[in-house]
Amino acid sequence: MQNLDQVVQDAAAAFAATDDPDALEQIKARFLGKGGQITELLKGMAKLSHEERKSAGAQINRAKEAIETALNARREAIRRLALEARLAEESLDVTLPGRGESRGGLHPVTRTLERLETLFRTIGFEVADGPEIEADFQNFTALNTPEDHPARSMHDTFYLQDENGQVAQDILLRTHTSPIQVRYMQAHVAKYAQLETMPEIRVIAPGRVYRVDSDATHSPMFHQIEGLWIGENVSFADLKGVIADFLRRFFESDDLQLRFRPSFFPFTEPSAEIDMAFMSGAHKGRWLEIGGCGMVHPNVLRHVGIDPEKYLGFAFGMGGDRLTMLRYGVNDLRLFFDGDLRFLRQFV
Ligand code: DAH
Repeated sequence: MQNLDQVVQDAAAAFAATDDPDALEQIKARFLGKGGQITELLKGMAKLSHEERKSAGAQINRAKEAIETALNARREAIRRLALEARLAEESLDVTLPGRGESRGGLHPVTRTLERLETLFRTIGFEVADGPEIEADFQNFTALNTPEDHPARSMHDTFYLQDENGQVAQDILLRTHTSPIQVRYMQAHVAKYAQLETMPEIRVIAPGRVYRVDSDATHSPMFHQIEGLWIGENVSFADLKGVIADFLRRFFESDDLQLRFRPSFFPFTEPSAEIDMAFMSGAHKGRWLEIGGCGMVHPNVLRHVGIDPEKYLGFAFGMGGDRLTMLRYGVNDLRLFFDGDLRFLRQFV
């Protein structure tokens, strides 16, 4: 039974050559199965004599056991390999940073605009909105801006193109929030056309505006807040009172001074620039321009169908980004629009 050792060796080599459990069972059949080599050898013993059969049987059985041992060892090895592969695939690296949930927050300028809405609501102002793509009439003409006014030039205003690529002179990105005044007054007049005397208009309108301008203190898109109060008896003193009260509440300080510096806007007469100075703190004593204001020009009222003999009022426009910079001590306007999370996170 010389070749028995060879059979055992062949079996061990064949088992080692696969790591597939099904293939392994098929290889097993080649040795231990019905027609397998060991089985054939056992069958062949019938021809042997009693004495020969005894020793051959013992040898064959030892070979069979050796093959079974090798088989079991290989089965176990394959099972372990599969398990290891699976573990490697599904492994969990607890040292990786967590995915977490990142929480968003409001942009500082949005916080300012919302705060403004809240403060003005408490004194009876409504909040209005208007389109950012505006018509020439609402942005300029109705606001008493003459045809040849420099603000209308293409250097300052973003005009839109029509479908032929031609600049459409009558559609533009609004250059200020003042056209919302016009739209609001037009709607108000239409709504109360039946009444002898229309209710007062008291409205603020925060929003984005656009100008061809870009440096540390100017961005092509920025924010304004428009205010308008129209009634039968609204004076410049009311304007000063509203603005002063608002600024004290916005900056949470009585320690500030206001100055209304004579100025010019086509849509107000008289017109003034609103300057403000803190009496203490980092900006102490420095005058800062925060907006424009004035009594609404009679031509503006006429353009929207309001009788300037009967009604009058004031309007103002303030810089939303400017107010935010002052409130939080930010010194570069561009930080608001860079989208740098290290900056923005400080406001959450
Ligand atoms: N629209 C002006 C601007 O963008 C700001 C302004 C000034 C608004 C006076 C007003 C106003 O309502 O009365 O420069």
